[in-house]
Amino acid sequence: MAGGFALATTLLTPRPGRAAPPTAAHAQRIKTLLARMTLDEKIGQMHQPAGGRQKALNSKIDAAALDLVRQGGVGSYLHVAGAQFLRDLQKVAVEESRLKIPLLFAIDVIHGFRTLYPVPLAMAATFDPEAYRACARMAAVETSVSGLHWTFAPMVDVARDPRWGRVVEGAGEDPYLGSAMAVAQTEGFQTKDLAGRDTVLACVKHFGAYGAVAGGRDYDSADLSERTLNEVVMPAFHAGKTAGAGSFMTAFNDIGGVPTTANAALVRGQLRDKWGFDGIVVSDWNAIAELIAHGVAETPAQAAALALKAGVDMDMAGGVYAAHLKSAVAEDPSLLPLIDQAVGHILLTKARLGLFDDPYRFGDVAREKTVMVSAPHRAIARDAARKAVVLLKNDGALLPLAKTAKVAVVGALADDARSAIGSWKARGEETDAVTLLAALKTRLSGVTYVPGAAPRSDDLSGVAAAVEAAKAADVTLLVVGEDFDHSAESRSRADLSLPGGQKALADAVLATGKPVVLVVMGGRPLAIPDLLAKAPASLMTWLLGVESGPALADILLGEASPAGRLPMGLPRDAGGLPETYAHYPTGRPANPDLAQDTARYHDLDIGPVYPFGHGLSYASFAYSDLTLDKATIGPNDTVSVTVAVTNTGKVAADEVVQLYMRDPLAAVARPVKELRGFRRLALKPGETRRVTFKLAARQCAFWEAGRWRIQKGKIELMVGASSDDIRARAAFAISVDGWSDTPAAALLTPVTVA
Ligand code: BGC
Repeated sequence: MAGGFALATTLLTPRPGRAAPPTAAHAQRIKTLLARMTLDEKIGQMHQPAGGRQKALNSKIDAAALDLVRQGGVGSYLHVAGAQFLRDLQKVAVEESRLKIPLLFAIDVIHGFRTLYPVPLAMAATFDPEAYRACARMAAVETSVSGLHWTFAPMVDVARDPRWGRVVEGAGEDPYLGSAMAVAQTEGFQTKDLAGRDTVLACVKHFGAYGAVAGGRDYDSADLSERTLNEVVMPAFHAGKTAGAGSFMTAFNDIGGVPTTANAALVRGQLRDKWGFDGIVVSDWNAIAELIAHGVAETPAQAAALALKAGVDMDMAGGVYAAHLKSAVAEDPSLLPLIDQAVGHILLTKARLGLFDDPYRFGDVAREKTVMVSAPHRAIARDAARKAVVLLKNDGALLPLAKTAKVAVVGALADDARSAIGSWKARGEETDAVTLLAALKTRLSGVTYVPGAAPRSDDLSGVAAAVEAAKAADVTLLVVGEDFDHSAESRSRADLSLPGGQKALADAVLATGKPVVLVVMGGRPLAIPDLLAKAPASLMTWLLGVESGPALADILLGEASPAGRLPMGLPRDAGGLPETYAHYPTGRPANPDLAQDTARYHDLDIGPVYPFGHGLSYASFAYSDLTLDKATIGPNDTVSVTVAVTNTGKVAADEVVQLYMRDPLAAVARPVKELRGFRRLALKPGETRRVTFKLAARQCAFWEAGRWRIQKGKIELMVGASSDDIRARAAFAISVDGWSDTPAAALLTPVTVA
C-alpha cells in the first residue's frame, strides 16, 4: 500500500534531535498495521474522546464507549485513571478489537498526580531544574502505576502578562529559564527510555504563541513579530523537542489570524519538517471544531481537513475527525496519505512506549496502593516547596521568626488546603495538604489565628479581631493573595490587586504599626506595590502543594534559608502590562525625570516592584574574580565565564548565581539583558565556590530574515543575584559573523561548580 510505504520511509529517515529514530521492528509493525487498517480504523486512532471529566474521571466509559473501542474507533482516552480500571479498558482494545491496537491513556499531570508539588510557576521560582526533574519523576511514577501513559505537560508558554491566568502553569517570562524547565520536566517524565519503568509520555504545549494572548485574555489572538515568536516563544518548545518530548499540543488561539490548529507553516513546516519532530501532535480540547468559530472553516469536514493538513494527528475531545474526516477524504482523496502519516505517528508512539510488546506494562494495582503520597514523595514535594519560596524583602532581619515569638496568623488562605494544591490536581486530595496554620501549630506554642477576610468575600466583619490579634502578638503573618481558582485556564483578570476584603484587612493590620510579615499566596504575580512598600518583610509563596505548610514553616522559622527567585516580575499595576526585564532599549529609554519624553507612563513608576530573578536570603553573598578564558571567540566557539561566590552571612544558604548577556551593537536592537545561565548552589557560612558557565557564541544569535545570525562584535556579560542586582561585568568579542540553526535561548549553558 503506497501510503504505508511512504510512511515507513519517512519514519526511517533519521531526524535531528534526541528522539531515537524508529527501530526497524517498529517501522515494520507500523507498515504492516497500516496496510491492514480500514479508513475507519485509521480515523479511530486519531480520535481521543474524554473518558470522563476532570472532576469525574472515567465517568464516560459506558457500554457505548466500550463498543466503540471494540470497533477500533478510539486511539486514546483522556481524563481516565486507575490501574485496574484501565487494565480492563485496555483488555477490550487488545482482546476484542480486530487489530488489537492498544489504547493510549492520558491525563493532565501538571504539578503532580496524587502528591501535588508546587504549581509550575512556583517550580520555576526554584531556579533548580534538578528539583523539577525529581518532582516530574515522582509524578511519572504515580501516574504510570495508575495505568496512564501520557501527561499533558510541560506547558512551556512564555508569558509576560500576569493578567493571563495560565501563567500559573508555565515558567514565567523568560525563554531561557523556560527552556531549562521544559527540559527538566520532559526528562523527568520520560527518562531517556520511554519503554523503561515508570515513564510517562510528555506533551509540550501549547505550541504556537498561547502565552502571548492579547491583553492576557485567555484564548484571544496573539499578534507578535517573527523575531519575538522565534526568540522568545519558540525556544522552550525547541528545548522540549530536543529533550525528546514524545508529543506536542497545538494552542487554541491564532497568531495574526492563523489559528495554530490550522497553521501548516508552523506545525508541519517548523515542528515537523524543520525540527524533525516525529511524535504525536494532538489538538487542544475541541480546538479543531473551533476552527469554525475562528472563521477559517465553514463546516466540520473543512475544519478536519485544515487541521490534518496543518499536521494535527489527534483530535482531543471534539470528535470532528471521528465524525467528519471520512467525508473530507471523500471530497479530497489527497488527504489519505496525511491520514497515514498521522496514524503512523500515533502507532510509533505506542510502540515507543512498549505497548505493542506489553499493553499492560503500565498500571500496577499493588504499587498503586503504596506509592501515592508516600513519605519519599512527600519529601520531594517539601524540598521543592521550600526552594520555591521567594523572600522579597526582609527589613531589619524580621525573618526568620524566633521560635519563642507570639505569632498572629491572619488571613483565610493560611488555612486553605484546597488552594494549597492548586487548580490542576489530577488525583490530588486536599486532605493530603498541610496548611501553613496546621504546620505552625505543631511547631510554635503561641499561635493565634484570625481569618479576618477571605479572597472571595467582601465581608469585613473579621477585620477588627485581626487587628486585635496583631496588636497582641509579637509578629503577624499576614497571609493574603489569590485562591486556587483565581488563576489557571480562563481565569484572566484585569485587576491584579488583592481580591475580596483582603486589601482592607491588610491595611488595617499594617496600620497597627506592629511587625508584619506579608505572605503572598497565589498562582500569578499580583500588583500590590503599596503593601510591599509598607510591610517590613514579605514572601511570595505561590501555591506550594501538599507540603505547603511544613515547607513555609521551615523558611519562616529559619530551618531553611529562602533562595527562590521571581520567574516573572511583580508589576506595579495591571495598566503597565505586559512587561519584562528583557525589553529593548528604545530610542528614548525610560527616565525618572518626567520633564523628559521617554518610554514610560507618567502615572506609574518605571519597571516592576521586584523584577525577574529577584529573591533574598538569610545569608549574604559576595561575588568576586569574574574571569573569562578568552577575549575573542569564533562563531562556533565557547567562552568560559568563571566567578567566585562567597557566603558572607552567618547561616548556610543557597544562592542563585545568574548570568546575563547583552549585545550592545547589532544589526537589530537587542534586549537590555537576557538570561543565559544560572546555578542554584548551597554555601556554608564563609564558604567560597567558583562557578563556571560555558557560553557558546550561538547563544548570542538573533533572528534575522528567517535565520539565526551570529554577528561579530562585542558581547557584554553581567553576573549577579538578580536581573537588577548585577555584581560583576565583563565582555568578550565574536570575531566573525556566523549562522546557527537553533533558537539561542533553547541552548542551555553547561555550568560547573568547584
Ligand atoms: C487545556 C489543555 C489541557 C486540556 C485537557 C484544555 O482546556 O487548554 O492545557 O491539557 O484541556 O484537559
